[in-house]
Amino acid sequence: MKEIIKQVFTDRFEGKPVIVRSPGRVNLIGEHTDYNEGFVLPASIDKAIYFAIAPNRDNVFRFYSYDLMDEYVTEIDKIEPCDKHWANYLLGVIAQFVKDGKQVMGFDCAFGGDIPIGAGLSSSAAIECGLAYAIDKMQKFGYSTMEMVKISQKAEHEYAGVMCGIMDQFAVMHGQINKAIKLDCRSLEYELLPVKMENYKLLLVNTGVKHSLASSEYNKRRNECAAGVKILKKYNSSIQSLRDVSLDFIQKHKAEFDEIVYDRCTYVIEENIRLDAACEALNNGDFTAFGNQMYLSHRGLKEKYEVSCVELDLLVDIAKKTRGVLGARMMGGGFGGCTINLVKKNAVANFKNTILAQYKTPEGKEPEIYEVVIDGGTGLA
Ligand code: GLA
Repeated sequence: MKEIIKQVFTDRFEGKPVIVRSPGRVNLIGEHTDYNEGFVLPASIDKAIYFAIAPNRDNVFRFYSYDLMDEYVTEIDKIEPCDKHWANYLLGVIAQFVKDGKQVMGFDCAFGGDIPIGAGLSSSAAIECGLAYAIDKMQKFGYSTMEMVKISQKAEHEYAGVMCGIMDQFAVMHGQINKAIKLDCRSLEYELLPVKMENYKLLLVNTGVKHSLASSEYNKRRNECAAGVKILKKYNSSIQSLRDVSLDFIQKHKAEFDEIVYDRCTYVIEENIRLDAACEALNNGDFTAFGNQMYLSHRGLKEKYEVSCVELDLLVDIAKKTRGVLGARMMGGGFGGCTINLVKKNAVANFKNTILAQYKTPEGKEPEIYEVVIDGGTGLA
């Protein structure tokens, strides 16, 4: 892919480009906990977007999307959200550099890769982090990776309108081969946990449902969690987020909660507990225990947080009944996208066949199944 994007650049533009690779991510467990200052366990993967970028002398930003075969051009002093959906992720990044007082020079950029779009693998974070990294390298600004993570997250907030947490951008930027990132989304301290996959595989199954509902429902979930925190804060002013709340404490105040808000909040508290159990299992090499936490996570997302959908539920149900599958859950924001499945290596073929025999996308097609490997984060390619 790197060579293709380099060639696409050379065919269309001039100059010697900086080449950057920026991967997608999976999340093993810890869903919808990041914006509640809890814990997540993502990892960057071997599906990525490549950028080729070099300055031009035309005072314009010129983007060419190889996958969409589409171009977007704008003058360097006209950075604002536009009608072209995909371009906003890129413009949003430039806007953050500008806000930070930097003069971003006109450039040409070709990009493309193999991260499926709208599948919950954070293709948008890969784009944001990749461009932030590429601009930083091209202009030698010297931003830290953490600063670029924040630039990318703000781009998503301001130009895509999704008030996402920090997990995706963090994982895309800081991922390492064969390591999961246990990230404390409050302090942003993290631990890299080895994932010894000799006997197991991670497989993603794409429902074929694009999670377009996700942004409005996502922002709604954030507000519901904030409403819960507001109630509990009355009883303990040191509570800043659901991270600070124990199950005992919320149970004591159940009567004051609207049922939905109560379910949302208990889901988040329980998911943090599950993540701890899952990390312990991972450290002990106990993949069966790890897989159980994945199933429990899915049940919480389905029943209490209500961000699943029938297609995701069906895929998890099939997985549960299939030999050699240790765990399965929906992944990412929800309402579509992929399930993540932990499967014994010797059962992979059977898993794929079972899924293909028992599940069809809403359009009646065979679902895409991706075997993913945990690979490095955003960097020069
Ligand atoms: C999306 C967001 C993340 C996170 C997940 C749910 O991927 O971008 O910040 O909240 O949903 O865990």
